[in-house]
Amino acid sequence: MIASRLVVDRDFVVADLDRRVFGTFVEHMGRCVYTGIYEPTHPNADARGFRKDVMELTRELGPTIVRYPGGNFLSGYNWEDGVGPRDKRPRRLDLAWYSTETNQFGTNEFIEWCRELDIEPMYGVNLGTRGPDHARHFIEYCNHPSGTALSDLRREHGYEKPHDIKFWCLGNEMDGPWQICRKTADEYGRAALETAKLMRMVDPTIQLAACGSSTHDMATYGMWEDRVLEHCFEQVDFISLHTYFENRRDSTAEFFGNIEVMDLFIKEIVAVADSVAARKHSSKRIMLSFDEWNVWYKARSINDLRKPGWPEAPRLIEEVYNHEDALVVGGALITMMNNADRVKTACLAQLVNVIGPIMTEPGGKAWRQTIFYPFSQASRFGHGRVLKPIVESASYEAETFPEIPYLYSAVVDDRASGTTTVFALNRHLTDEMELDIELRGLGKERTLDQAIELHHSNMKAVNTVDAPMTVAPAVNSAVSVDGERIRARLKPGSWNVIVTTAR
Ligand code: AHR
Repeated sequence: MIASRLVVDRDFVVADLDRRVFGTFVEHMGRCVYTGIYEPTHPNADARGFRKDVMELTRELGPTIVRYPGGNFLSGYNWEDGVGPRDKRPRRLDLAWYSTETNQFGTNEFIEWCRELDIEPMYGVNLGTRGPDHARHFIEYCNHPSGTALSDLRREHGYEKPHDIKFWCLGNEMDGPWQICRKTADEYGRAALETAKLMRMVDPTIQLAACGSSTHDMATYGMWEDRVLEHCFEQVDFISLHTYFENRRDSTAEFFGNIEVMDLFIKEIVAVADSVAARKHSSKRIMLSFDEWNVWYKARSINDLRKPGWPEAPRLIEEVYNHEDALVVGGALITMMNNADRVKTACLAQLVNVIGPIMTEPGGKAWRQTIFYPFSQASRFGHGRVLKPIVESASYEAETFPEIPYLYSAVVDDRASGTTTVFALNRHLTDEMELDIELRGLGKERTLDQAIELHHSNMKAVNTVDAPMTVAPAVNSAVSVDGERIRARLKPGSWNVIVTTAR
């Protein structure tokens, strides 16, 4: 048994949590759209072709914002191909994923899907094969009320009211050699600036994110953000971050170090963005959009990335998640919450089938992967202000990161309801943790609403179509509340959510 302590104080606040950190991502890639969220021939599809079982699971997962339509796909996409009568939409080669894109699902269908689920859409404009002209036309089609060729075209397509899309990504991973029409930082910074200018002229109410580095490991990391922001600082609100965690050494203890690296990544990008602000003598602060993140290392072979013969909706990167992956995803969510002062949007990549928390079989069932649970619980209980966690915990040393505390936690306090939620990982692999929590100044009369744990004795345990509940949340009965104190026993290698309310 190891002992740990966690203290928060009602006055020591990181920031109000922006609920957009619980976002996900739908890309035209593999089976995310086709046979994922959209499958008109499925017995469970609604009149629009949306899979109702997937909508139900998406509701339970609880994303607040969803990025669309890519990803690498974005850099070769013509938005015009995906609107208007379906029988007139062209079939195209998708050069990002070597697939055939039928365009049977496009912007308007995605907006309908989002509205049905009460999710905010986050859109990207193609700064690969296209540029500012395309972007200004696209936003006019989406957001301008009426009286111009493109806004009236949207109305002709059956959408009288503007889509009012507020959050826009200026391209995708433009530093990556794999990207269709990759750019240098100067080329991209200029393109982002001019595109942003035009888009804001059409709709001044939008928020814009410039592309940061594709990963923390890029050779141009840091310099890229510096140069890009040097050009477009005044016109953008966000810089994006992407990361995919890998378990390269097949060691759970090392794998956990990725969570700390993510925290470092955020702090480094904040430092770079603020140094650009300093150079410009500006008090403006660029916020962070962590708009692609997840575990992804098993389904990464060339066979996972492309199939021969330009197929429609092939099985690409259908990563099967195990218990340790769920713990790392939980840790990443904690990191995001604890950086709530600068990370304002984030997207778990992706939503269905393609590195997704939800899996489907074409014509068949849908089920939850292990990573579904920490995300759904964080989204469900992550409301209010993030409090600064003071942690006393033993640590261990790893190659991924020099000092990794066994206890990793975030505390979110909702003043409106009096509910305080503790999210905690016990990263000790063999020992239970005796956790002593002190909620200072948050109300002496508290009740325990929920104590949930995600635990499995086998780190490699997975959920499948035939055994979908192998890794599933359970009640942790070893939690008690006494005034401002909570005492909890956390299983080794477990994710935990403890919800209490002040009376
Ligand atoms: O999410 C899969 C791919 O990973 C995205 O298309 C791309 O942006 C990233 O490299």
